[in-house]
Amino acid sequence: MSEHYPALFSPVTLGAIAMKNRLAMAPMTRARSPERVPTQSVVTYYTQRAGAGLIITEATQISVQGTGSIATPGIHTAEQIAAWKKVTDGVHARGCSIICQIWHVGRVSHASFQENGQAPVSSSDVHGEVNTFTAEGFERTTPPRPLAIEEIPGVVGDYRKASLNAIEAGFDGVQIHAASGYLIDQFLRDGCNRRQDEYGGSIENRCRFLLDVTDAVIDAIGAGRTSVRLSPFTVTWDCSDSNPQPLFTHAVKELDKRDLAFLEIVERGFESLAATNRTAAEDEFQPHHLREAYSGRLMVNGCYQPEDAENAVSSDYADAVSIGRPYVSTPDYAERVAAGATLNEDVDPLAWYGGGDEGYIDLPAMGE
Ligand SMILES: Cc1cc2nc3c(=O)[nH]c(=O)nc-3n(C[C@H](O)[C@H](O)[C@H](O)COP(=O)(O)O)c2cc1C
Repeated sequence: MSEHYPALFSPVTLGAIAMKNRLAMAPMTRARSPERVPTQSVVTYYTQRAGAGLIITEATQISVQGTGSIATPGIHTAEQIAAWKKVTDGVHARGCSIICQIWHVGRVSHASFQENGQAPVSSSDVHGEVNTFTAEGFERTTPPRPLAIEEIPGVVGDYRKASLNAIEAGFDGVQIHAASGYLIDQFLRDGCNRRQDEYGGSIENRCRFLLDVTDAVIDAIGAGRTSVRLSPFTVTWDCSDSNPQPLFTHAVKELDKRDLAFLEIVERGFESLAATNRTAAEDEFQPHHLREAYSGRLMVNGCYQPEDAENAVSSDYADAVSIGRPYVSTPDYAERVAAGATLNEDVDPLAWYGGGDEGYIDLPAMGE
């Protein structure tokens, strides 16, 4: 309990996931796993941030095919599972829950990451203006090929297996990364999905892949340990939709039938992720529309300050709020908010992705 923010510092249980407070650390790629296996620095990084009620890990690939940039970790080999176990142990020892964000990048990849230098896969062959970090630098992605309909159950199976691996690694659950222009978003949005089969065309068909994945993960580990992240209000790269409101309303209503641990909605992006060419239909569509369509447990994200987060929780608009960038610079963000203390200065965005311990695990906690 905090005298400053009583609602934020009240405990809650989201499905099977207990939170000692309503602040989650948002998923953030930091690209510190050069061998695709979390290192001891990764263990330290997450353990330092375990004052949060819940940590959602950085996006973690479910397969070689789902890999799209350098130094991101996976959850598809025995070595990766063993390494993540050290992270979950460290975080749990501080009374914090942790879930793994499971990720397939789809077209946001490069042949150099794919088995035998093949093309990355997507819903369709829409290449898009997409770059990714490869061993050579920030490069244009390789043009994708559409997944054959017979291949889809295999990819769904990779999400399912990754969720079982996450439980084996000691995670309290998983978050299905359906946001930010990655594979599931490439199925959802008609700017990317040009399929003519039952996974393309109508809104129901474009939501099918998301729901297949969600149902497979629920079947494997239970709905109470399953979360989904959507980013309906931002367009990442050029993965856009001609009419996002009915699309995401349908997706959210379908997810609502599944009694997830929680749905996380990214309500707004920040400069580098925000759309520069929003259409009128996109502008009309607002976060409260999805709140009205969803009766389940909700986490919200995007530029939240403690006051807004307190209001969101105390008004029952949301059950929890996830915090991204402040957790990069201030490892004890929740503790400082509770104490009414100031935060560290922002870390240089150049240290966000890749590099060593600088700007990663060398940020002081209060009193250090
Ligand atoms: C360095 C960095 C890496 C990120 N990586 C991911 C990621 O792996 N998965 C994801 O869903 N969102 C990712 N995001 C988005 C954040 O989760 C969050 O939505 C965004 O930072 C807005 O929240 P904030 O205003 O509290 O920072 C990333 C953001 C940053 C700054």
